[in-house]
Amino acid sequence: MHRRPILAVAVLALSFVALARAAESAPAGSPAPAAHDPANPPIDCPLHQRGVNTDTLRPFAETEKYIEFLERADRAAWQKPDAVVAALHLAGSETLVDVGAGSGYFTFRFAKALPKGKVIATDIDPEMIRHIHHKVLTDGIANVKVVLTDPKDPRVDPAADVVFVCDVVHHVDGREAWLRKLSSEMKPGAKLVVIEFKEGKLPEGPPEAVKIPKAKLVSLLESAGFSLQSDRPELLPYQTFLTFTKPAKSAAR
Ligand SMILES: C[S@@+](CC[C@H](N)C(=O)[O-])C[C@H]1O[C@@H](n2cnc3c(N)ncnc32)[C@H](O)[C@@H]1O
Repeated sequence: MHRRPILAVAVLALSFVALARAAESAPAGSPAPAAHDPANPPIDCPLHQRGVNTDTLRPFAETEKYIEFLERADRAAWQKPDAVVAALHLAGSETLVDVGAGSGYFTFRFAKALPKGKVIATDIDPEMIRHIHHKVLTDGIANVKVVLTDPKDPRVDPAADVVFVCDVVHHVDGREAWLRKLSSEMKPGAKLVVIEFKEGKLPEGPPEAVKIPKAKLVSLLESAGFSLQSDRPELLPYQTFLTFTKPAKSAAR
């Protein structure tokens, strides 16, 4: 699939719709809207906002393979996305940050569960950000924002009520400092959900050497200032499901 032509068509189509709407609401004979009329803002591009030159990105085919892997149909059998969303007990109006959102596997499910709230999907990979942003534009999803982040800074919105991190922590170099930064960015009382692969030989998941044993994971998070609220080992067959809170007075060690 060729991304750029599709993205260009989507952007053109949306620009056309914006112009058509402006023309509809303009009184007869009034001048066409200016290029940066505040009532008709240009479409946000999360990559341009962070100064990324999109001409230098990898061929999309490589990212597509990773996206296909993350979105593969048989993942649902053990990833149990509906059970995961239900386990977050969302009221529907929260702000949720999906850190390291990848293809948006959970992002778009959370968006449906938050009709009065919003999801902020973040990732360090511009290709993934472009993929999610493209889906947001083409599907007209109003409650998903997309943010490109830095490997050392999760850049979590301080308004976040829930931060969700699935299969990401084992990818992060310098995870102690990264988790401390995450904790410093979250408001007191906010919830953090962490999913990582369980130890031992499993049909899914990364090599044993890169997995983080649960006790170590809990200790890392507690050292970063989080309090363990619940451990649901039964929820997912191959992954831990841990919920933490950022206490009113966080004591990062
Ligand atoms: C295995 S994928 C998981 C994607 C998604 N959470 C899911 O469950 O489908 C890991 C993702 O984490 C992202 N990632 C790696 N290091 C990161 C970091 N330091 N901050 C944010 N995202 C990161 C990668 O770019 C990748 O998209």
